[in-house]
Amino acid sequence: MFNNAAAYDGYVGRWSRLVGEQFIAWLNIPFGRKWFDLGAGTGVLTSVILQQAVPESILGMDLSESYIERAHQNVRDERVQFKVADASTAVTDSPQFDVVVSGLVLNFVPSPQETLETMKLLAKPAGTVAAYVWDYAGKMEMMRHFWDAAIVLDPAAADMDSGKRFDICKPDNLRAAFEALNLSAVEVRPFDVQTVFKDFDDYWQPFLAAQGSISKYLTSLDDQAKNALRQQLQKQLPTNNDGSIHLTARAWAAKGIK
Ligand SMILES: C[S@@+](CC[C@H](N)C(=O)[O-])C[C@H]1O[C@@H](n2cnc3c(N)ncnc32)[C@H](O)[C@@H]1O
Repeated sequence: MFNNAAAYDGYVGRWSRLVGEQFIAWLNIPFGRKWFDLGAGTGVLTSVILQQAVPESILGMDLSESYIERAHQNVRDERVQFKVADASTAVTDSPQFDVVVSGLVLNFVPSPQETLETMKLLAKPAGTVAAYVWDYAGKMEMMRHFWDAAIVLDPAAADMDSGKRFDICKPDNLRAAFEALNLSAVEVRPFDVQTVFKDFDDYWQPFLAAQGSISKYLTSLDDQAKNALRQQLQKQLPTNNDGSIHLTARAWAAKGIK
């Protein structure tokens, strides 16, 4: 699913970075630690860790070759290593990392609980395990508007709605998944960022190039249906006089200590 790295940065990468900045500040990890970034993608969270947490090292792992290729271009630092591999089953002889994080990944793995178990295994004793996911069912408004509009025109679209499909993105479920790991000091909280689109096209175009459930849904529509959806969204989105669209994107974040 994740094979167009350039499109990712213009679609969701730009907003993930804003959440990542608040998330890394919240973790409040001392400088000089060893980090593991699970599902590092194009290097969005890795670069925030570098800038804010002054790490000793970061290992970023991702399944997607093209994303990791892009991560190499985006993040050039001798403390960082990227690897193409399935991180949900990554094993290590001994836990090596002070901090194991993932940004916007848990809903894309077959078993979020197993991936969290792996994250815990990778962390040293007293290490931090932490993650964030979009609030697809609630205030990830950019996507919420899309699915709400799609469902008005085509009730069957509800089956593809990320808000309905991704249980781990609901705060109670995220908390339960972290508590099931027997971590101490588990905390769950939202982070809101402002997603500002200069006009309707700035909102709409990235969906056409992007990956994920939305682009999959869009490619299933013929031109007429796509146009109807475009018009429905234009009707529905809160648009300012200058044409700009200001939405909120909420992520739920969780952390705990091993
Ligand atoms: C939405 S992107 C998030 C990327 C980045 N963390 C960010 O915040 O922008 C999800 C990433 O998870 C990766 N991913 C999904 N399952 C994975 C797995 N089992 N192992 C490693 N990476 C995985 C995808 O390839 C994709 O790059």
